[in-house]
Amino acid sequence: MNAAVARFAKTAGPPLWLLLELTYRCPLHCVFCYNPTDFANTGPELATADWIRVLREARALGAVQLGLSGGEPLARDDLEEIVAEAHALGFYINLITSGVGMTEPRIKALKAAGLDHIQLSFQDSTREMNDFLSSTRTFELKAKVAGLIRAYDYPMVLNVVLHRLNIDHVGEILAMAEALGAQYVELANTQYYGWAWLNREQLLPSRAQLQRAEAVTRAFRERVGGQMQIYFVVPDYFETRPKACMNGLGSVFLAIAPDGTALPCHAARMLPGLELPNVREADIGSIWYDSQAFNRFRGDDWMKEPCRSCPEKVKDFGGCRCQAYLLTGDADNADPVCDLSPHHGLVTEAVARAERAAAAPAAAPAPSGRAPGLTFRDHRVSIPVVIEEKRT
Ligand code: FES
Repeated sequence: MNAAVARFAKTAGPPLWLLLELTYRCPLHCVFCYNPTDFANTGPELATADWIRVLREARALGAVQLGLSGGEPLARDDLEEIVAEAHALGFYINLITSGVGMTEPRIKALKAAGLDHIQLSFQDSTREMNDFLSSTRTFELKAKVAGLIRAYDYPMVLNVVLHRLNIDHVGEILAMAEALGAQYVELANTQYYGWAWLNREQLLPSRAQLQRAEAVTRAFRERVGGQMQIYFVVPDYFETRPKACMNGLGSVFLAIAPDGTALPCHAARMLPGLELPNVREADIGSIWYDSQAFNRFRGDDWMKEPCRSCPEKVKDFGGCRCQAYLLTGDADNADPVCDLSPHHGLVTEAVARAERAAAAPAAAPAPSGRAPGLTFRDHRVSIPVVIEEKRT
């Protein structure tokens, strides 16, 4: 470790937020999935004993918040065992699921094991668009799972990823959430990593679409009052200052991929020069405090101008490293979402293309469930390298 890395390593607090991506297997084929596009080429999944060791080591370091995701975490038949161990260790446990694989016996077992929270995803308010965007027939099943979540006394938490193809349905999506008894709804505009990056030209909405959706959400909030909390996550590309992604890499967030690779953010596998450790070979303490990957972006020695001398670096940490890499080819650059970045034009040009596309006559989704230009997440089309040709 060089001297700068060592200095920042010492200042790192504990990994408060642990995300276990238990599997890349998923019955859905979402066009906006953030999983790596080459997921089919990663190694075998960790065994139950490995996940349990990770939980124990992370908890001993001070991790308190646990997310279980994937892929679809319900594809693992040891999910209940993992939840029971996490509960015994004192984690607050959130299951992030499409609902596929959730049955009454399973939710009963998960409740008994100590699962605290379930976040259920929908793709849209209509069966047609939900099933088209995920390339599956899952709409009715999700509605049934929502009923199970209510019946087992969990807070009803829905997540819907927004983009050009469904953002005009926000009113209907919120009405669906109300009918399902949702207490929390996250309207999360697509973040452009992984499969979403591949499909960015088809998914980025126009500013007019975004403003309409915000207005509809505001009016809905006023009508329902405190009965439903609605989080509307604005797409980065429409901002002029970047998000404090992961609160800075190596600050609080630790993700473990299905093959045991430890990641300072869920998309970091693609960042060149990161020596990503694996929990099969190293314990969580040495991964978090000593590894090159987790120290690489701690502190500000790595920053270039304009971030290095910018007073806002203490609150946004230069923005998102993955976005900087995808858009500019250099993860040390300022996130181009920032209008102080010399690369900000890459973002405004992408938005301008989205404006032109939104103004063009809409192409109807093909009845086959495929659409021109959209790439659906799929093992068979898992794509090794796609970054260069998509960069603009
Ligand atoms: Fe990797 Fe933002 S998604 S740093």
